[in-house]
Amino acid sequence: TYILYTCMLISHISFYFFPGSVLGQSFCSGEDPRCSGDIPVKRRIDCHPQPGASQENCEARGCTWCSTDVLNAPWCFFPEDSPYGYSLSGNVEKTAKGHAGLAPTWVPVLGLAVVFWRLCRCYFTILCPTCEGEDKDITKIIISLSICHRWDASLADLIFSNQYLQITTTVPSTSVYGFGEHEHPSFKHSMDFATYGMFSRDQSPAPFANLYGVHPFYLCVETDSNAHGVLLLNSNAQDVSLSPNPSLTFRTIGGILDFYVFLGPTPENVVQQYTEAIGRPHMPAYWSLGFQLSRWGYGSIDVLKETVDRMHYYDIPYDVQHSDIDYMERRLDFTYDKENYAGLPEYIQQLKEEGMHYVLILDPFISKDEEPGTYKPYDLGEEMGVWVNNSDGVTPAVGKAFPDGHSVFPDYTNPRTVEWWTQLCLELKDVLDYDGFWIDMNEPSNFERGQYPGCADNDINNPPYVPSISDHALAQKTLCPDSKTYLGEHYNTHSLFGWSQTAPTFHATQKATGKRAFVLSRSTFVGSGKHGGHWLGDNFSQWKDMHQSIIGILEFNLFGIPYIGADICGFNYNTTYELCLRWMQLGSFYPFSRNHNSEENSEQDPAVFGAEFAEISRETLQIRYSLLPYLYTLFFESHVHGNTVARSLMHEFTSDQQTHEIDTAFLWGPAFMIAPVLQEASTVIKKCYHTRIKEMNCA
Ligand code: NOJ
Repeated sequence: TYILYTCMLISHISFYFFPGSVLGQSFCSGEDPRCSGDIPVKRRIDCHPQPGASQENCEARGCTWCSTDVLNAPWCFFPEDSPYGYSLSGNVEKTAKGHAGLAPTWVPVLGLAVVFWRLCRCYFTILCPTCEGEDKDITKIIISLSICHRWDASLADLIFSNQYLQITTTVPSTSVYGFGEHEHPSFKHSMDFATYGMFSRDQSPAPFANLYGVHPFYLCVETDSNAHGVLLLNSNAQDVSLSPNPSLTFRTIGGILDFYVFLGPTPENVVQQYTEAIGRPHMPAYWSLGFQLSRWGYGSIDVLKETVDRMHYYDIPYDVQHSDIDYMERRLDFTYDKENYAGLPEYIQQLKEEGMHYVLILDPFISKDEEPGTYKPYDLGEEMGVWVNNSDGVTPAVGKAFPDGHSVFPDYTNPRTVEWWTQLCLELKDVLDYDGFWIDMNEPSNFERGQYPGCADNDINNPPYVPSISDHALAQKTLCPDSKTYLGEHYNTHSLFGWSQTAPTFHATQKATGKRAFVLSRSTFVGSGKHGGHWLGDNFSQWKDMHQSIIGILEFNLFGIPYIGADICGFNYNTTYELCLRWMQLGSFYPFSRNHNSEENSEQDPAVFGAEFAEISRETLQIRYSLLPYLYTLFFESHVHGNTVARSLMHEFTSDQQTHEIDTAFLWGPAFMIAPVLQEASTVIKKCYHTRIKEMNCA
């Protein structure tokens, strides 16, 4: 029910020139006393977020330059009482200085719509106008932006241009969580000028790197313990800076500023309200809560069988076996290797008769270099016109991925692609009796910078501002931004690729199996949880990564994707006995519990290390299995009411400030705490759950 709806126009106002007297000199260390009084460092909002800031180019865009030795604090920042941005009145007038470097094409007039719907939810959008009207509240909204109760945008002005949109809000406390997908060093964010880029990318977890999915959503616990959450629904490449004021600055290079505010008041309420808006998480099948085993590179059905046999020999609870790309013939989707995996169809049948379930991997790229008439996925796709196209909108984009030769990329935003994909998934079921799919590499990953023969030099491929993403290049490891999809330019739809593949795969699986679908997607976006789960990607067999996995699991529960886990024992590098055993103990309590390993690394299934390891793994997994009715109930609550499944202690004990920092222990629902050993050579947990391990030195 709409309680209030306003729609109005706001205008860009003119810029001033700034007096140069205080700004005329550069300081290389410490803070310039003559300029530091202007704005306290913690209130600075970066006016030159791209690399290469200098006093000259800073002042050229009308901003203030003042050095400081506060780590990561900007030296070029917006002046406090700047006349930038938008107001109700005033003609459009751009001065020579303005924000030319930052925002080359201003959108002179904007529309603002504010909608309050039901209790505790509010939505506002700032866009190029298609609506008319006036309302006095606009002044309040734009000047102080104390919109939706929790927004105050007075710290810095709104910038809205074709390829650069920026807005800053203060936040009422430093207990800020969320944003993804990244490897965050802690669950509760540092607000000390940290910037995180969001643009889906085939990238193993690394500090500050933009990873596989995009979730521009945060949750804030206020000083009075009330919580609220905010989503910026925008699929363009973007970044967010967290500053100590505390404040958040959102920068995106396209679309509109589409904000949803969820007013809680509890953290659980926020996630319930968020998933009400974006789609409740799907209800996973009971079997998919069992322990799962995978590896890239069993290499043959014999090794696969030996592995399964030793799992059974040691009686390790185990319900699902996965096959990675080595089951395919030359890494071609919808095939299987009839030499190395001869008898795979029969073997899958046998496992299923024994009560197990089977998951197959599929990649999104399709080889175009097979003999014509021999590879149906390509021939049929070509006939149906299902690929992502080059900028001409007609010829398919051709890149390099796992299959030999070159590959094309299905455009899942196209309904014809959905038909094509569904048909192939249904036909595959007649050969390999799968129960679910693991959809990988769908950022989409391409092993080169852009497709063949490289990206044209234009503003779409090389926008004036590239958010804080790895390599500072939108086309790196993917397609050129000016490629065309059915839904629009890849520039706008890139981070939706995995999301657009998830629902069709879910429906195809449902149709093929006649049962609840299992889809595990590497790339996710807002709302992906409705049709799929996620794993945290190509982590490393390191103690640090085991701790990071808890943070990732808590974050994906905030994002409405509670079916989440990390590769137990680590994907990259060889694991060790001790690390893997501790990781089995922790991973037994991931909502999605799977041990997975990369090609050529030593085996790490829980049966390979001998009797003692197997016994401990069996015992810890038996605890999981004894609690499965509880876990299943939590997933039901999540599906119906949007609750988190794994949640931080902060969710349950919000008024206890100590819990705000805890990310070394977590809860299943409200009632079961998991506090794992996360350090090498340790047999005790010394109050590690009271604060972050590195601060407590709790060996
Ligand atoms: C990348 C995935 O992240 C990983 O889990 C998988 O094993 C490899 N691709 C090979 O398919």
